[in-house]
Amino acid sequence: MKRVVIQDLKRWKQEGHRWVCLTAYDAPSARVLEAAGVQVALVGDSLGNVILGHDSTVPVTMEDMVCHTAAVRRSAPSLFVVGDLPFLAAQVSDEQAVLNSGRLVQEGGADAVKLEGGGPRAATIQRIVEAGIPVMGHLGLTPQNATQLGGYRVQGNDPESAARIAQDAMALEQAGAFAVVLECVPAPLASAIAKETSIPIIGIGAGQGVDAQVLVFHDLVGLSGDFQPRFVRRYANVETTMIEAVKSFQNDVEAGRFPDDSESFLASSEDEQGDVDPESERQLSG
Ligand code: KIV
Repeated sequence: MKRVVIQDLKRWKQEGHRWVCLTAYDAPSARVLEAAGVQVALVGDSLGNVILGHDSTVPVTMEDMVCHTAAVRRSAPSLFVVGDLPFLAAQVSDEQAVLNSGRLVQEGGADAVKLEGGGPRAATIQRIVEAGIPVMGHLGLTPQNATQLGGYRVQGNDPESAARIAQDAMALEQAGAFAVVLECVPAPLASAIAKETSIPIIGIGAGQGVDAQVLVFHDLVGLSGDFQPRFVRRYANVETTMIEAVKSFQNDVEAGRFPDDSESFLASSEDEQGDVDPESERQLSG
C-alpha cells in the first residue's frame, strides 16, 4: 500500500472524504492499523496513561516517544505516522522544539509531529515547519495542561473560550500546521472551525462536522479497562477475550492438557535438529 502524504489529506478535505486517525504505540497496534487500511497513526503521549500506567501524560519523556514512534514506524511502512511532542518538549524554547521534533523524525521515523497549544504556540509551530517538519496542532482539551484547564472538561462552552479556540485554529493554520486536532469541544464549534479552515480538522469528542476522527486504539478495541468516556465507541471487547484466553491456558496447564506432543520436541522428531519455527523469521527471545 502506498504511504499517505499530506497532499492526500488536503485533497480529502476538498473532496469531503472523511478519514481516520488512530493511536498506535507498538508493533502489534501498528500492524492492526496497517492491515485495516487506516490512513494516519498517532503515537500520542496518551502512551503515558494507556501503556505506561501513569495517571496523566505529563511524565512521558522524549525517550519514551522516540522509542514507541520507531516501533510503530518499523511495523507500518505505509501509515502516515505522527509523533507527539511530550510535556515541555516544545515549550522551553523554539530551538529545543525544533531539535525534539527532529528526533521524532530522524530517530523515530515519524512523518510529522503533534504539538498541543493555541496562539502562543504559533511561532514555535512556524519554526518547526520552517525546519522542514510538518506539524499537527492540538486545541480544546489539551491533556498536558489539564490542571490549568480545571481538569478533563469540555472546552469552548462559553462564547469567549469558543472564540479563542476558533482564533487559535486560524493562527495554527497561518503558522503552517497541516492539520489540527480538536479535543472535547462542542460539535457546532468544531463544525464551524472545520468550515472556516482549509486544513483538515480532526475531532475527538468534537462531533460529526469535522474532516476526520481520531480515537485511542485501546479504547476502540476495549483494552482500556473501565475507562469509557462519552466520545468513545467500543467496537470490540479484546480485554475480555484476552482474559478468557489466559484462563484457558491456565486450566490446560493445571489439567495436564498443555503442551501436547505437537507442541513438544520429541526425541525422534526432525524438528529437534531444525528451526524452532521454519515458517517465521522471528527469533525466539531469551
Ligand atoms: O495523545 C493522544 O493520544 C492524543 C489524541 C487523543 C488526540 O493527543
